[in-house]
Amino acid sequence: MSVLWFGGDHNPEQWPEEVRAEDTGLMRRAGVNLVTVGVFSWSLLEPREGEFDFGWLDRELDRLADAGVGVALATPTASPPPWFGAAHPDAMPVTAEGVRLTHGSRDTYDVTAPAYQAACERIVRALAERYSAHPALRLWHVHNEYGTWSHSAHADRAFRGWLRKRHGDLEALNEAWTTAFWGQHYSDWEHVRTPRATQYLANPAHVLDFRRFLSDAMLDHYLAQRTILKSADPAVPVTTNLAFGDWVPVDAWKWAEHMDLVAVDDYPSAPGAEAAAQTAFAADLARSYAARVPAKGRPWLLTEQAAGVLYTPGRTVSKAPGELVRHSLSHVARGSRGAMFFQWRASRGGAEQWYSGMVPHAGPDSRIFREVCELGALLPRVAGAADARVPVDAAVTWDPESWWAMGAASLPDADLDYLGAVRQVHRVLWRSGRTVDFVRPDRPLPPVPLLVVPSLYLVSDTAAAHLADYVERGGTLVATPLSGIADPHGTVRTGGHPGALRDLLGVRVEELRPAPDTELSDTDLGTVRGWTEAVRLTGAEPVAVHRSGDLAGQPVLTRNRRGSGTAWYLSARLDDAALGALLAGLGARATAADLRAGPATPSAPEAGVEVVRREDGALTWIFVLNHTGAPYPVAPASLGLAPGAVDLLTDTAAEGLTVPGGGVAVLHGRLSP
Ligand code: GAL
Repeated sequence: MSVLWFGGDHNPEQWPEEVRAEDTGLMRRAGVNLVTVGVFSWSLLEPREGEFDFGWLDRELDRLADAGVGVALATPTASPPPWFGAAHPDAMPVTAEGVRLTHGSRDTYDVTAPAYQAACERIVRALAERYSAHPALRLWHVHNEYGTWSHSAHADRAFRGWLRKRHGDLEALNEAWTTAFWGQHYSDWEHVRTPRATQYLANPAHVLDFRRFLSDAMLDHYLAQRTILKSADPAVPVTTNLAFGDWVPVDAWKWAEHMDLVAVDDYPSAPGAEAAAQTAFAADLARSYAARVPAKGRPWLLTEQAAGVLYTPGRTVSKAPGELVRHSLSHVARGSRGAMFFQWRASRGGAEQWYSGMVPHAGPDSRIFREVCELGALLPRVAGAADARVPVDAAVTWDPESWWAMGAASLPDADLDYLGAVRQVHRVLWRSGRTVDFVRPDRPLPPVPLLVVPSLYLVSDTAAAHLADYVERGGTLVATPLSGIADPHGTVRTGGHPGALRDLLGVRVEELRPAPDTELSDTDLGTVRGWTEAVRLTGAEPVAVHRSGDLAGQPVLTRNRRGSGTAWYLSARLDDAALGALLAGLGARATAADLRAGPATPSAPEAGVEVVRREDGALTWIFVLNHTGAPYPVAPASLGLAPGAVDLLTDTAAEGLTVPGGGVAVLHGRLSP
């Protein structure tokens, strides 16, 4: 039977011997089978340049092996030691304002600095030679959450090299960046630098290429480590934990192709129902990254989440009782090979001393550790689902480059929020009980029944062709405002929006009408706030119109038949209820009335119960996560289960089962024929 990994970041170097000894006992009690060791331990492993001290790590890995706990051994390169910065100040990162950072926190590195690259390769080679055959080793965990930007002279040099490869000659770069605007035309490559602090709005194409470059430069750094680790033993899987945030310049679609196990960290930014929605979003995204890897797809794993309080400056989110189990099982339901945490034991001191752990400051006699033990006991019961597929009802496009491009300060509305638009679509589909894959539009698209394209700002000709092909083959596509507007350089496609998708959607938008925070009109679909557009029909039929405002009588939603499918265009911003009703009601003959938010009849997930399926042939595992405080009676037949199904978590019959408020069930059995 497949294993589901369970554990967290383990930092024995922060603790005396008696605590380390207690830890292995507690891990066994909790059912922990994998811990991530050594993430920030470079200064202890190499206390002086070229001098190694592996004694403490040898002892710890041996102890873990004896206890039957596997290790994801980290390369410690996310935190170079104090001696490194002193010896190589040029390898410390430089901010956009030109400030060279110094040692004192973590993540203070410049992936483009030769001295940093050489030091990383030395420590990684030493670790690979010493531990690749260690019995505790299950996985190499490279670095930690890549993401430090640098504007150093090294970065300038590397950026220019990258730009030469992308654009060829300088004139092509001038053209791609529209440098004729504001007199930015370059006459010498040496004048091209990373986008530093400047007087007013930066050139958006320059910034966009810098973000692409950073992703590639960091990927090169990861690949250099991967090569060393693989040459020691190609059989040991290698990964790095991907973070999610607008400071992260990593194009995870590309990176996933170089990861044996796609690893993601997930920290919802809000509590309660929103945390559950964000958890599902993170998990669906991770599964999608892994699925896009050539051949059969790769496994993926939740490598970090909070056990209790997540505290970072400006943000504090606590996990309520029961959420530790529910969020973990939401990830497993959506395909994760387990549930890992940051971190095993909460630190006493240091910058994250108030950050929660599986063993909190209070020790094992605590609610959190009891929930950890509960989860550790539940996971083996659902491990049979580890290889089962996650059937989906819809797909949503996700494009990091559009996200980066829409972060530019030069767009027509300061409220434009690509991530927010994608999250909203995912959230309303999640609430209506639909499981969603994310797709990257520059690859051929899968034949899902519904494809939503939220605010896909940058669309290449290739992506436009894939979207058209999806529709022609019978798909239902819904595009929302700002899609198709610009080419991959961020240059507006002239002649009417939505540029690359005009023909597919059968409309021509003459004018964008942004009005931040303003109610713009009542429409057949509901109230429109913040954004609308003047749409002319060039083949599409109007399905819903504005009832008031400047655009009264003009279309807000259109439908265009193309091949055997249909392409819809929504030209305005709707709230969750209206967007949810629209996506639920789409159909070849749908009228405005079918798509208008009527009195809500909450389906199970809308009432706060999340239902996710796994399937393997005729066998199914149905995860029921009750995020509400009220009991939820299960109806196995209406979920498609044949008689005889059981709840794997309680070993009771699914028939007649009630999932308590805040509780979970995993119904397992055969699908009804
Ligand atoms: C993650 C990071 C961990 C820890 C955690 C809590 O992003 O990988 O090392 O810092 O956040 O803030």
